[in-house]
Amino acid sequence: MRVLFTGGAGFIGSHTADKLLEMGHQVKIIDCLKKPVHLKGFPDYIDKSKIEFIYGDVRDKTVMTYALEDVDIVFHFAAYQDYLPDYSTFSHVNTYSTSLMYEIIEEKKLPVRKIIVASSQAVMGEGRYHCREHGTFFPNLRSELKLNKKIWDHYCPTCKKKLIMDLSDEKVINPQNPYGMSKHTQEMIAINLGKRIGIPSVALRYSIVQGSRQSFYNAYSGVCRIFSLSMFFDKQPIVYEDGNSIRDYVNIRDVVDANILVMESDEANYEVFNVGGGKPYTVFEFLKIVAEVFSKSITAKIPGEYRFGDTRHIVSDISKLESLGWKPKRSIYDSVREYKEYLEQQTDIADILDYAQKQMKTLGAVRRIDDN
Ligand SMILES: NC(=O)c1ccc[n+]([C@@H]2O[C@H](COP(=O)([O-])OP(=O)(O)OC[C@H]3O[C@@H](n4cnc5c(N)ncnc54)[C@H](O)[C@@H]3O)[C@@H](O)[C@H]2O)c1
Repeated sequence: MRVLFTGGAGFIGSHTADKLLEMGHQVKIIDCLKKPVHLKGFPDYIDKSKIEFIYGDVRDKTVMTYALEDVDIVFHFAAYQDYLPDYSTFSHVNTYSTSLMYEIIEEKKLPVRKIIVASSQAVMGEGRYHCREHGTFFPNLRSELKLNKKIWDHYCPTCKKKLIMDLSDEKVINPQNPYGMSKHTQEMIAINLGKRIGIPSVALRYSIVQGSRQSFYNAYSGVCRIFSLSMFFDKQPIVYEDGNSIRDYVNIRDVVDANILVMESDEANYEVFNVGGGKPYTVFEFLKIVAEVFSKSITAKIPGEYRFGDTRHIVSDISKLESLGWKPKRSIYDSVREYKEYLEQQTDIADILDYAQKQMKTLGAVRRIDDN
């Protein structure tokens, strides 16, 4: 089959493209090599002789029309996923490009057979909680007022007891940041326009994906990158809040398996699926694993900082995708080991850690409690 990846020069797209090439499919990529993701230019993990590469922006109708010609399957991975306060860019890139794709396919009567869009756990915001006495809650963003008083957790509005985190399934929709809002809109566009024009479409809500090829230069990046780079450069890793936030992490190879499964399965059509690691880890537990993999005894620095807009806890319920036969097979140890190997292959990387940290402070994303 002929498969188009928007954002295929990135982390998830390139790994999925490699797998499809291995399976004998033809691959086309459209990507604008966005900075800072591709700060150092065209990624060396892409073999241009094996794919068709189109340099372009997914918001450009002419170039997208060209890219969408002669393809059976589209993976829509290009996205704006920064932490900048330019709220409209999230809609402009993520939402607009998704509508545009369906518009072109309908207008030109293109024979696309399936579209898979990358959504995110961010759609579920702070996720689902319960109070033993007062039922289920879907909390909103934590206020600066509370964060400045180091009130990290969510509490029952009635009895004031700490709420208990539950797994969040696909029915949970409560995005709190512009990225999550744009991803929810992408899901709606894909499923509803897909139905309207008869193109089977699937939205995959990834949890935090880990493995090789994750950009070193994303300002708002996950713990694997921050902790691994800290260990690599023998620096004390910074832990935000109190280190007890909970997340689930999924290995890139499990994500590739999920992508292929929904591409091939008719049962997946017009559905939204969580793609997560299935197991909760606190930030401290994750750090311990990274230190172990790097054989370092470096402890965390807890400077009283938090990232405004961060979710306290979120763990995806993955039973819906598991019912189609998928399950996460790789561990966090695998992910960290793979990331470490990738990091060790790099040259010219001394600037990476400070770059991201400075970016976060400049943008006002990282805030100190005594700053306010
Ligand atoms: N990596 C994760 O942990 C994660 C988690 C949840 C959801 N997602 C989603 O999965 C998708 C892929 O993520 P990734 O981790 O591979 O990100 P990535 O940044 O590595 O790749 C995204 C690619 O899109 C390209 N791109 C960005 N804007 C573009 C535009 N306007 N036109 C053309 N190309 C553009 C970038 O150059 C990059 O190559 C994204 O939609 C992202 O929101 C990722």
